[in-house]
Amino acid sequence: MLDLLIKNATLPDGRTGMSVAVLDGKIVEVAPALDAPAANLLDAQNQLLSPPFVDAHFHMDATLSYGLPRVNQSGTLLEGIALWGELKPLLTEEALMERALTYCDWAVAKGLLAIRSHVDVCDPRLLAVRALLEVKRRVAPYLDLQLVAFPQDGVLRGTQGPQQHMANLQRALDLGVDVVGGIPHFERTQHDGALSIKLLCELAAARGLMVDMHCDESDDPLSRHVETLAFETQRLGLQGRVTGSHLTSMHSMDNYYVSKLIPLMAEAGLHVVANPLINITLQGRHDTYPKRRGMTRVPELLAAGIHVAFGHDCVMDPWYSLGSGDMLEVAQMGLHVAQMTSQTAMRQCFSAVTGNAARVLGLQGYGLEAGCYADFCLLQARDPVEAIRLRAPRLKVFRRGKLLCETPASVGRLHLPDRPGSTTWQTSSPADNCEQ
Ligand code: FE2
Repeated sequence: MLDLLIKNATLPDGRTGMSVAVLDGKIVEVAPALDAPAANLLDAQNQLLSPPFVDAHFHMDATLSYGLPRVNQSGTLLEGIALWGELKPLLTEEALMERALTYCDWAVAKGLLAIRSHVDVCDPRLLAVRALLEVKRRVAPYLDLQLVAFPQDGVLRGTQGPQQHMANLQRALDLGVDVVGGIPHFERTQHDGALSIKLLCELAAARGLMVDMHCDESDDPLSRHVETLAFETQRLGLQGRVTGSHLTSMHSMDNYYVSKLIPLMAEAGLHVVANPLINITLQGRHDTYPKRRGMTRVPELLAAGIHVAFGHDCVMDPWYSLGSGDMLEVAQMGLHVAQMTSQTAMRQCFSAVTGNAARVLGLQGYGLEAGCYADFCLLQARDPVEAIRLRAPRLKVFRRGKLLCETPASVGRLHLPDRPGSTTWQTSSPADNCEQ
Protein backbone atom coordinates (compact mmCIF):
# COMPACT_ATOMS: atom_id res chain seq x y z
CA MET A 1 0.00 0.00 0.00
CA LEU A 2 1.20 3.51 -0.84
CA ASP A 3 1.77 6.05 1.92
CA LEU A 4 0.29 8.85 -0.13
CA LEU A 5 -1.46 9.19 -3.48
CA ILE A 6 -2.07 12.64 -4.96
CA LYS A 7 -4.55 12.78 -7.81
CA ASN A 8 -5.62 15.47 -10.30
CA ALA A 9 -2.45 17.52 -9.97
CA THR A 10 -1.15 20.00 -12.50
CA LEU A 11 2.63 19.90 -12.83
CA PRO A 12 4.95 22.84 -13.63
CA ASP A 13 5.64 21.41 -17.11
CA GLY A 14 1.94 21.77 -17.95
CA ARG A 15 0.79 18.17 -17.57
CA THR A 16 -2.68 18.00 -16.00
CA GLY A 17 -4.66 15.23 -14.33
CA MET A 18 -1.47 13.74 -12.96
CA SER A 19 -1.10 11.39 -10.03
CA VAL A 20 1.92 11.17 -7.76
CA ALA A 21 2.46 8.00 -5.76
CA VAL A 22 4.59 8.08 -2.61
CA LEU A 23 6.14 5.27 -0.59
CA ASP A 24 8.77 5.46 2.15
CA GLY A 25 9.40 9.16 1.63
CA LYS A 26 10.06 8.91 -2.09
CA ILE A 27 8.06 9.36 -5.27
CA VAL A 28 7.56 5.93 -6.81
CA GLU A 29 5.44 6.88 -9.82
CA VAL A 30 4.15 9.95 -11.66
CA ALA A 31 1.47 9.13 -14.23
CA PRO A 32 -2.02 10.15 -15.34
CA ALA A 33 -4.94 8.90 -13.24
CA LEU A 34 -3.18 6.29 -11.10
CA ASP A 35 -5.36 4.09 -8.97
CA ALA A 36 -3.81 2.21 -6.08
CA PRO A 37 -4.57 1.71 -2.40
CA ALA A 38 -2.99 4.41 -0.27
CA ALA A 39 -3.01 5.32 3.41
CA ASN A 40 -3.59 8.95 2.45
CA LEU A 41 -5.36 10.26 -0.62
CA LEU A 42 -5.27 13.90 -1.74
CA ASP A 43 -7.33 15.36 -4.57
CA ALA A 44 -5.28 18.29 -5.87
CA GLN A 45 -8.29 19.65 -7.76
CA ASN A 46 -6.11 20.62 -10.72
CA GLN A 47 -3.97 22.96 -8.65
CA LEU A 48 -0.22 23.21 -9.22
CA LEU A 49 1.96 20.64 -7.50
CA SER A 50 5.40 22.18 -7.39
CA PRO A 51 8.79 21.04 -6.18
CA PRO A 52 9.62 22.84 -2.95
CA PHE A 53 11.17 26.28 -3.10
CA VAL A 54 14.94 26.61 -2.72
CA ASP A 55 16.71 29.77 -1.59
CA ALA A 56 20.18 29.81 -3.12
CA HIS A 57 21.49 32.76 -1.09
CA PHE A 58 20.61 33.87 2.41
CA HIS A 59 22.13 35.26 5.62
CA MET A 60 20.48 33.40 8.47
CA ASP A 61 22.88 34.75 11.10
CA ALA A 62 21.56 38.27 10.51
CA THR A 63 17.90 37.54 9.85
CA LEU A 64 15.17 39.16 11.94
CA SER A 65 17.68 41.53 13.55
CA TYR A 66 16.23 44.64 11.90
CA GLY A 67 16.64 47.69 14.13
CA LEU A 68 19.43 46.14 16.22
CA PRO A 69 21.19 48.26 17.31
CA ARG A 70 19.82 50.83 14.81
CA VAL A 71 18.46 50.95 11.29
CA ASN A 72 20.41 51.51 8.06
CA GLN A 73 19.94 55.22 7.27
CA SER A 74 21.60 55.36 3.85
CA GLY A 75 20.21 52.08 2.56
CA THR A 76 23.64 51.14 1.17
CA LEU A 77 25.55 47.88 1.26
CA LEU A 78 28.46 49.57 3.02
CA GLU A 79 26.35 51.00 5.87
CA GLY A 80 24.76 47.55 6.20
CA ILE A 81 28.20 45.98 6.59
CA ALA A 82 29.17 48.64 9.16
CA LEU A 83 25.90 48.11 11.02
CA TRP A 84 26.45 44.34 11.08
CA GLY A 85 29.91 45.10 12.56
CA GLU A 86 28.19 47.07 15.36
CA LEU A 87 25.75 44.26 16.01
CA LYS A 88 28.23 41.36 16.06
CA PRO A 89 29.70 42.07 19.53
CA LEU A 90 26.15 42.17 20.93
CA LEU A 91 25.08 38.81 19.51
CA THR A 92 24.41 35.84 21.73
CA GLU A 93 24.23 32.28 20.49
CA GLU A 94 20.79 31.80 22.03
CA ALA A 95 19.23 34.91 20.48
CA LEU A 96 20.76 34.17 17.11
CA MET A 97 19.43 30.61 17.18
CA GLU A 98 15.99 31.77 18.23
CA ARG A 99 15.77 34.20 15.32
CA ALA A 100 17.07 31.63 12.87
CA LEU A 101 14.63 28.97 14.06
CA THR A 102 11.77 31.45 13.79
CA TYR A 103 12.81 32.16 10.22
CA CYS A 104 12.93 28.43 9.45
CA ASP A 105 9.32 28.19 10.60
CA TRP A 106 8.40 31.00 8.23
CA ALA A 107 10.30 29.27 5.44
CA VAL A 108 8.60 25.92 5.84
CA ALA A 109 5.19 27.58 5.90
CA LYS A 110 6.07 29.09 2.52
CA GLY A 111 7.20 25.75 1.09
CA LEU A 112 10.86 26.78 1.28
CA LEU A 113 12.59 23.53 2.18
CA ALA A 114 16.23 24.17 1.23
CA ILE A 115 18.33 27.24 2.03
CA ARG A 116 21.97 28.05 1.35
CA SER A 117 22.96 30.49 4.08
CA HIS A 118 26.22 32.34 4.30
CA VAL A 119 27.53 32.58 7.86
CA ASP A 120 30.05 35.17 8.99
CA VAL A 121 33.31 33.50 10.06
CA CYS A 122 35.24 36.64 11.05
CA ASP A 123 34.39 36.37 14.74
CA PRO A 124 37.19 34.23 16.26
CA ARG A 125 34.63 32.74 18.67
CA LEU A 126 32.72 31.47 15.61
CA LEU A 127 29.56 32.19 17.57
CA ALA A 128 27.34 32.43 14.51
CA VAL A 129 28.86 29.29 13.02
CA ARG A 130 28.17 27.25 16.15
CA ALA A 131 24.64 28.64 16.40
CA LEU A 132 23.76 27.89 12.78
CA LEU A 133 25.31 24.41 12.87
CA GLU A 134 22.99 23.68 15.79
CA VAL A 135 20.06 25.17 13.87
CA LYS A 136 21.01 23.02 10.89
CA ARG A 137 20.95 19.91 13.08
CA ARG A 138 17.58 20.81 14.59
CA VAL A 139 15.80 21.63 11.34
CA ALA A 140 17.31 18.74 9.36
CA PRO A 141 14.12 16.63 9.53
CA TYR A 142 12.22 19.28 7.61
CA LEU A 143 14.63 21.73 5.97
CA ASP A 144 17.99 21.36 4.22
CA LEU A 145 20.26 24.11 5.52
CA GLN A 146 23.55 24.41 3.64
CA LEU A 147 26.13 26.74 5.18
CA VAL A 148 28.81 28.84 3.47
CA ALA A 149 31.86 30.06 5.40
CA PHE A 150 31.64 33.75 4.63
CA PRO A 151 34.49 36.10 5.60
CA GLN A 152 32.31 39.22 5.70
CA ASP A 153 35.24 41.55 6.53
CA GLY A 154 37.47 40.11 3.78
CA VAL A 155 40.04 37.35 4.41
CA LEU A 156 42.84 39.77 3.56
CA ARG A 157 41.28 43.03 4.73
CA GLY A 158 39.80 41.92 8.07
CA THR A 159 41.37 43.53 11.13
CA GLN A 160 42.65 40.24 12.55
CA GLY A 161 44.99 39.76 9.58
CA PRO A 162 44.96 37.23 6.75
CA GLN A 163 46.37 34.31 8.72
CA GLN A 164 43.78 34.58 11.48
CA HIS A 165 40.91 35.06 9.04
CA MET A 166 41.95 32.04 6.97
CA ALA A 167 42.30 30.07 10.21
CA ASN A 168 38.79 31.11 11.31
CA LEU A 169 37.41 30.03 7.96
CA GLN A 170 39.20 26.67 8.08
CA ARG A 171 37.95 26.03 11.62
CA ALA A 172 34.41 26.72 10.43
CA LEU A 173 34.89 24.14 7.70
CA ASP A 174 36.33 21.71 10.23
CA LEU A 175 33.20 22.16 12.35
CA GLY A 176 30.99 21.17 9.43
CA VAL A 177 30.30 24.26 7.33
CA ASP A 178 29.70 23.01 3.78
CA VAL A 179 30.88 25.61 1.27
CA VAL A 180 33.79 28.09 0.93
CA GLY A 181 32.74 31.74 0.62
CA GLY A 182 34.49 35.00 -0.10
CA ILE A 183 33.99 38.70 -0.83
CA PRO A 184 36.72 39.78 -3.30
CA HIS A 185 35.19 43.17 -4.18
CA PHE A 186 35.43 44.18 -0.50
CA GLU A 187 39.16 43.46 -0.23
CA ARG A 188 41.42 46.54 -0.28
CA THR A 189 42.59 46.35 -3.89
CA GLN A 190 41.75 44.58 -7.12
CA HIS A 191 44.94 42.60 -6.59
CA ASP A 192 43.91 41.51 -3.09
CA GLY A 193 40.46 40.60 -4.40
CA ALA A 194 42.03 38.34 -7.03
CA LEU A 195 44.43 36.88 -4.46
CA SER A 196 41.54 36.09 -2.10
CA ILE A 197 39.76 34.20 -4.89
CA LYS A 198 42.91 32.20 -5.60
CA LEU A 199 43.45 31.31 -1.92
CA LEU A 200 39.83 30.39 -1.27
CA CYS A 201 39.38 28.34 -4.47
CA GLU A 202 42.60 26.46 -3.68
CA LEU A 203 41.24 25.74 -0.20
CA ALA A 204 37.98 24.44 -1.68
CA ALA A 205 39.82 22.30 -4.21
CA ALA A 206 42.04 20.81 -1.49
CA ARG A 207 39.00 19.91 0.61
CA GLY A 208 36.72 18.85 -2.27
CA LEU A 209 34.17 21.53 -1.43
CA MET A 210 31.91 23.86 -3.37
CA VAL A 211 32.55 27.61 -3.59
CA ASP A 212 30.03 30.43 -3.39
CA MET A 213 31.45 33.94 -3.34
CA HIS A 214 29.82 37.28 -2.92
CA CYS A 215 31.35 38.71 -6.06
CA ASP A 216 31.28 42.17 -7.63
CA GLU A 217 28.35 43.40 -5.55
CA SER A 218 29.10 46.87 -6.79
CA ASP A 219 27.97 49.43 -9.38
CA ASP A 220 31.59 49.81 -10.48
CA PRO A 221 31.79 48.44 -14.05
CA LEU A 222 35.49 47.76 -13.49
CA SER A 223 34.80 45.34 -10.64
CA ARG A 224 35.70 42.24 -12.66
CA HIS A 225 36.44 39.60 -10.04
CA VAL A 226 34.05 37.16 -11.67
CA GLU A 227 36.60 36.89 -14.47
CA THR A 228 39.17 35.67 -11.92
CA LEU A 229 36.60 33.37 -10.34
CA ALA A 230 35.98 31.74 -13.73
CA PHE A 231 39.72 31.47 -14.33
CA GLU A 232 40.45 29.83 -10.96
CA THR A 233 37.48 27.49 -11.40
CA GLN A 234 38.98 26.21 -14.64
CA ARG A 235 42.55 26.14 -13.40
CA LEU A 236 41.60 24.03 -10.39
CA GLY A 237 39.08 21.78 -12.16
CA LEU A 238 36.17 23.05 -10.08
CA GLN A 239 33.70 23.23 -12.97
CA GLY A 240 30.09 22.93 -11.80
CA ARG A 241 31.02 23.50 -8.15
CA VAL A 242 31.47 27.27 -8.08
CA THR A 243 28.84 30.00 -7.76
CA GLY A 244 29.19 33.72 -8.23
CA SER A 245 26.63 35.52 -6.06
CA HIS A 246 25.28 38.99 -6.81
CA LEU A 247 27.56 39.93 -9.76
CA THR A 248 25.80 43.29 -9.90
CA SER A 249 28.71 45.09 -11.56
CA MET A 250 27.83 43.12 -14.71
CA HIS A 251 24.78 45.39 -14.95
CA SER A 252 27.08 48.39 -15.47
CA MET A 253 29.82 46.77 -17.54
CA ASP A 254 30.63 47.61 -21.10
CA ASN A 255 28.70 45.33 -23.48
CA TYR A 256 31.82 44.43 -25.46
CA TYR A 257 33.58 43.18 -22.34
CA VAL A 258 30.50 41.21 -21.29
CA SER A 259 30.44 39.54 -24.71
CA LYS A 260 33.81 38.04 -23.75
CA LEU A 261 33.02 37.44 -20.09
CA ILE A 262 29.81 35.40 -20.29
CA PRO A 263 31.32 32.70 -22.55
CA LEU A 264 34.25 32.44 -20.11
CA MET A 265 31.78 31.95 -17.24
CA ALA A 266 29.89 29.31 -19.23
CA GLU A 267 33.13 27.54 -20.15
CA ALA A 268 34.04 27.37 -16.44
CA GLY A 269 30.62 25.95 -15.55
CA LEU A 270 29.99 28.78 -13.08
CA HIS A 271 26.59 29.06 -11.45
CA VAL A 272 25.10 32.47 -10.77
CA VAL A 273 22.83 33.71 -8.00
CA ALA A 274 21.03 37.03 -8.39
CA ASN A 275 19.34 38.60 -5.37
CA PRO A 276 16.69 40.85 -6.90
CA LEU A 277 14.94 42.16 -3.77
CA ILE A 278 18.18 43.27 -2.21
CA ASN A 279 20.09 44.58 -5.19
CA ILE A 280 17.18 46.62 -6.54
CA THR A 281 17.28 48.45 -3.21
CA LEU A 282 21.05 48.53 -2.46
CA GLN A 283 22.43 49.33 -5.89
CA GLY A 284 22.29 52.64 -7.73
CA ARG A 285 22.48 54.58 -4.48
CA HIS A 286 25.26 56.81 -5.80
CA ASP A 287 23.30 57.58 -8.96
CA THR A 288 21.10 60.62 -9.46
CA TYR A 289 18.94 59.87 -12.52
CA PRO A 290 18.78 57.59 -14.35
CA LYS A 291 19.31 55.13 -11.48
CA ARG A 292 20.75 51.79 -12.47
CA ARG A 293 18.78 48.66 -11.56
CA GLY A 294 21.87 46.87 -10.34
CA MET A 295 20.91 43.27 -10.97
CA THR A 296 23.18 41.00 -12.97
CA ARG A 297 22.32 40.08 -16.59
CA VAL A 298 20.00 37.17 -15.92
CA PRO A 299 18.46 36.55 -19.39
CA GLU A 300 21.85 36.73 -21.10
CA LEU A 301 23.44 34.33 -18.58
CA LEU A 302 20.55 31.88 -19.02
CA ALA A 303 20.87 32.13 -22.79
CA ALA A 304 24.52 31.08 -22.42
CA GLY A 305 23.41 27.92 -20.63
CA ILE A 306 24.45 29.06 -17.14
CA HIS A 307 22.31 27.95 -14.19
CA VAL A 308 20.90 31.10 -12.62
CA ALA A 309 19.08 31.02 -9.31
CA PHE A 310 17.45 33.80 -7.33
CA GLY A 311 18.18 34.28 -3.63
CA HIS A 312 16.24 36.09 -0.93
CA ASP A 313 19.57 37.22 0.61
CA CYS A 314 18.08 39.16 3.52
CA VAL A 315 14.91 39.31 5.62
CA MET A 316 14.62 42.10 8.19
CA ASP A 317 18.32 42.66 8.82
CA PRO A 318 20.91 45.48 8.53
CA TRP A 319 20.58 45.47 4.73
CA TYR A 320 16.84 45.01 4.18
CA SER A 321 13.84 45.85 6.32
CA LEU A 322 11.26 43.68 4.57
CA GLY A 323 10.78 40.08 3.40
CA SER A 324 8.92 37.03 4.63
CA GLY A 325 10.65 33.94 3.25
CA ASP A 326 8.39 33.93 0.21
CA MET A 327 10.46 32.83 -2.80
CA LEU A 328 7.57 33.74 -5.10
CA GLU A 329 8.08 37.37 -4.03
CA VAL A 330 11.74 36.96 -4.96
CA ALA A 331 10.82 35.46 -8.34
CA GLN A 332 8.31 38.23 -8.97
CA MET A 333 10.89 40.94 -8.28
CA GLY A 334 13.50 39.18 -10.43
CA LEU A 335 10.99 38.95 -13.27
CA HIS A 336 10.27 42.67 -13.09
CA VAL A 337 13.84 43.90 -12.69
CA ALA A 338 15.13 41.72 -15.56
CA GLN A 339 12.02 42.43 -17.68
CA MET A 340 11.56 38.68 -18.11
CA THR A 341 7.95 38.93 -19.21
CA SER A 342 7.60 36.30 -21.96
CA GLN A 343 5.90 33.05 -20.97
CA THR A 344 9.22 31.22 -21.27
CA ALA A 345 11.08 33.83 -19.23
CA MET A 346 8.46 33.87 -16.47
CA ARG A 347 8.80 30.10 -16.15
CA GLN A 348 12.58 30.56 -15.97
CA CYS A 349 11.97 32.86 -12.99
CA PHE A 350 9.96 30.10 -11.34
CA SER A 351 12.81 27.67 -12.00
CA ALA A 352 15.25 30.19 -10.46
CA VAL A 353 13.56 29.58 -7.09
CA THR A 354 12.95 25.83 -7.61
CA GLY A 355 14.84 23.59 -10.06
CA ASN A 356 17.74 25.84 -11.00
CA ALA A 357 18.28 26.80 -7.37
CA ALA A 358 18.44 23.10 -6.45
CA ARG A 359 21.08 22.59 -9.16
CA VAL A 360 23.17 25.47 -7.80
CA LEU A 361 23.07 23.91 -4.32
CA GLY A 362 23.89 20.48 -5.73
CA LEU A 363 20.81 18.96 -4.08
CA GLN A 364 20.25 15.31 -4.82
CA GLY A 365 16.82 13.68 -5.22
CA TYR A 366 15.07 16.94 -5.94
CA GLY A 367 12.23 16.96 -8.50
CA LEU A 368 8.82 15.64 -9.38
CA GLU A 369 9.73 12.27 -10.82
CA ALA A 370 10.06 8.67 -9.70
CA GLY A 371 13.05 8.16 -7.43
CA CYS A 372 13.07 11.71 -6.07
CA TYR A 373 12.21 12.62 -2.51
CA ALA A 374 8.51 13.19 -1.91
CA ASP A 375 9.03 16.88 -1.21
CA PHE A 376 6.50 19.22 -2.83
CA CYS A 377 3.98 22.03 -2.35
CA LEU A 378 0.42 22.26 -3.51
CA LEU A 379 -0.12 25.85 -4.60
CA GLN A 380 -3.37 27.73 -5.12
CA ALA A 381 -2.50 28.35 -8.75
CA ARG A 382 -2.87 26.61 -12.08
CA ASP A 383 0.65 27.10 -13.43
CA PRO A 384 4.02 28.66 -12.50
CA VAL A 385 3.18 32.03 -14.02
CA GLU A 386 -0.01 32.28 -12.00
CA ALA A 387 1.92 31.18 -8.91
CA ILE A 388 4.29 34.14 -9.35
CA ARG A 389 1.49 36.57 -10.22
CA LEU A 390 -0.48 35.72 -7.12
CA ARG A 391 2.38 34.75 -4.81
CA ALA A 392 0.05 31.82 -4.45
CA PRO A 393 -0.86 30.40 -1.05
CA ARG A 394 0.90 27.17 -0.18
CA LEU A 395 -2.15 25.02 0.46
CA LYS A 396 -0.07 22.05 1.60
CA VAL A 397 3.66 21.51 2.06
CA PHE A 398 5.05 17.97 2.10
CA ARG A 399 8.51 16.71 2.99
CA ARG A 400 9.43 13.05 2.49
CA GLY A 401 5.72 12.40 1.93
CA LYS A 402 4.68 13.86 5.30
CA LEU A 403 2.44 16.90 5.59
CA LEU A 404 4.40 19.76 7.21
CA CYS A 405 2.12 22.73 6.84
CA GLU A 406 -1.29 23.77 5.57
CA THR A 407 -2.56 27.23 4.63
CA PRO A 408 -6.21 27.93 3.84
CA ALA A 409 -7.09 28.89 0.29
CA SER A 410 -7.38 32.60 -0.27
CA VAL A 411 -11.04 33.38 -0.95
CA GLY A 412 -12.66 36.77 -0.46
CA ARG A 413 -16.33 37.66 -0.16
CA LEU A 414 -17.61 40.85 -1.75
CA HIS A 415 -20.63 42.76 -0.50
CA LEU A 416 -21.54 45.11 -3.31
CA PRO A 417 -24.78 47.11 -3.36
CA ASP A 418 -25.51 46.54 -7.06
CA ARG A 419 -24.82 42.79 -6.99
CA PRO A 420 -27.46 40.48 -5.54
CA GLY A 421 -26.26 38.38 -2.62
CA SER A 422 -22.63 38.02 -1.73
CA THR A 423 -19.95 37.16 -4.25
CA THR A 424 -16.98 34.98 -3.58
CA TRP A 425 -13.81 36.34 -5.06
CA GLN A 426 -10.57 34.71 -6.07
CA THR A 427 -7.83 35.75 -8.43
CA SER A 428 -6.75 32.23 -9.30
CA SER A 429 -7.77 32.39 -12.97
CA PRO A 430 -9.98 34.59 -15.17
CA ALA A 431 -12.79 32.04 -15.15
CA ASP A 432 -12.81 32.01 -11.38
CA ASN A 433 -12.47 35.72 -10.73
CA CYS A 434 -16.07 36.23 -9.77
CA GLU A 435 -18.33 33.31 -9.03
CA GLN A 436 -21.89 33.91 -7.88
FE1 FE2 B 1 24.60 38.07 0.47
